[in-house]
Amino acid sequence: MSQKYPTSSSRKRSPLSSGKYSAIGLLAYCRPGFEAECAQELQNIASLQFVYGYSKIEKGSGVVFWRCSQGNALDVYKEIEVSRCIFARQVFCALHDLEIEDPKDRVSPVVEALRAGGAFGFLHIETPLEDEAGSLQKLAKKLTAPMSAALRNAGVLSKAKSDELPQLHLVCLSGQHIIAALAIYPNSSALPLGIPRLRFRNEAPSRSALKIEEAFLTMLTPAEREFVLKRGQRGVDLGAAPGGWTWYMVSQGVKMTAVDHGSLQQELLEDPAVTYVSDDGYVYKPQKKVDWVVCDIVDKPKRTMERMADWLCYDWTTYALFNLKLPMKTRMDEVEACLQRLQERLLGADIESEVRVKQLYHDREEVTVLALTGHFLTAFQKH
Ligand SMILES: C[S@@+](CC[C@H](N)C(=O)[O-])C[C@H]1O[C@@H](n2cnc3c(N)ncnc32)[C@H](O)[C@@H]1O
Repeated sequence: MSQKYPTSSSRKRSPLSSGKYSAIGLLAYCRPGFEAECAQELQNIASLQFVYGYSKIEKGSGVVFWRCSQGNALDVYKEIEVSRCIFARQVFCALHDLEIEDPKDRVSPVVEALRAGGAFGFLHIETPLEDEAGSLQKLAKKLTAPMSAALRNAGVLSKAKSDELPQLHLVCLSGQHIIAALAIYPNSSALPLGIPRLRFRNEAPSRSALKIEEAFLTMLTPAEREFVLKRGQRGVDLGAAPGGWTWYMVSQGVKMTAVDHGSLQQELLEDPAVTYVSDDGYVYKPQKKVDWVVCDIVDKPKRTMERMADWLCYDWTTYALFNLKLPMKTRMDEVEACLQRLQERLLGADIESEVRVKQLYHDREEVTVLALTGHFLTAFQKH
């Protein structure tokens, strides 16, 4: 019998169960320029809970403030798992939208607003905005000690750090505008600003290696990753040159076939774990079933998606990881149309699957899709 792993969504008693937290909306961070898609994603999740609201966005800020106008935003937040959001890389439950009148005293208004609510186990003061002088970052740093002391004195913040209580995030949108928000994990990301800080290794043939590393780190739990990515597996990389993705997979012990008309980094060509094939990635098919197909070809998203569906439906691979390059407009529509078509093809071929989609920090005008079939579904009880 296959071993059952806990899923990422099974958790202990919720830290929200004991508190009297009253929410006004959701606050999310995304890639700058994708605020509209992120806002639509939040509203889509809220609508499923019959909760409605509207978003305030400033294009290019990378911040979305979704204000709830009907229903309870906390109910929506409880349903969110940020690793399952496509465009939001961080989501908090917004509690107070504070305009600071006296720049000499930012502490008192925050303490007063939070005094009547539930308690928190830790304080983070941050800004998602990049101002050239870094003045908001400096402000966030400067505020941390006096704010923590005042919140502790008021009983809002626990004396010692506690994981049993929600975390408090004070998000500085300007020197006069602070949003107080609540976070629990895995609803919110535990990474600062929701961004994984990965170190680029000089021997990697391209910076794209960071993209695939981030995909494996953030789109799978550690137990899931251990299950799907193992030494001795075989994989195919379509559109492989110069070889960042192939290099990463080989570093994980996977034997790779790299397909591209372009040339691969010399060290990879000489690596016994790599077979180079000069071919069209949309035509190439494997002689034997592989564990992984990965694809980073820049082409129409529907074309890539259809080819990936071929690989999964004709049972040429167990797992697929690929990028869908997004058009300038109707990006959400394009993603939804591609995913719907993938589901139709998989259902039509009677293949059970788990499909995850995320715009990673290292992605640009694209999203990354992970499709998992086979024993993964039984091992992780996904039906
Ligand atoms: C973004 S780069 C891939 C970078 C690669 N993932 C890495 O980590 O180094 C896209 C690659 O797709 C290749 N490509 C484009 N169309 C292709 C096709 N139809 N078949 C195979 N490769 C293709 C290009 O030659 C290019 O090397």
